Amino acid sequence: MNLHVINGPNLNLLGKREKSIYGDESFEPFFASLQKLFPEIQLEYFQSNSEGEIIDKIHEIGFESDGIILNAGAYTHTSLAIADAIAAVTTPVVEVHISNVHAREPIRHHSYLAKNCVGVIAGFGLNSYRLAIQSFIR
Ligand code: DQA
Repeated sequence: MNLHVINGPNLNLLGKREKSIYGDESFEPFFASLQKLFPEIQLEYFQSNSEGEIIDKIHEIGFESDGIILNAGAYTHTSLAIADAIAAVTTPVVEVHISNVHAREPIRHHSYLAKNCVGVIAGFGLNSYRLAIQSFIR
């Protein structure tokens, strides 16, 4: 099985960014620990701050990958275009958030993406990604 983690804008700053919300761990070492935890899964990682690049990546892998774990960051709450990209491909997508977006500002309560995803995992810190990977293991 191969799974792709896609991180959206500002998530390249994990470990430096608003540590009280997102923690003090940067993503790359965490991702390496996920690869060790799930040696049977081919795990790939892509990050972009650009909406178009995220859409291009979904198009590129979205007919071949076994699953996409997508944290679209703030685009979650704004991007009909990413929602359409998720609907356009055949690969199932799990929406992930580090923080509990429902306990935050009202603008973060709505996701354009969720209705096109198989599920949403939010609020478990970086463990949200681990839970999303586990959701693909039957
Ligand atoms: C986030 C939540 C979003 O509201 C925010 O814009 C992010 C990160 C999360 O992982 O908690 O950039 O997706």
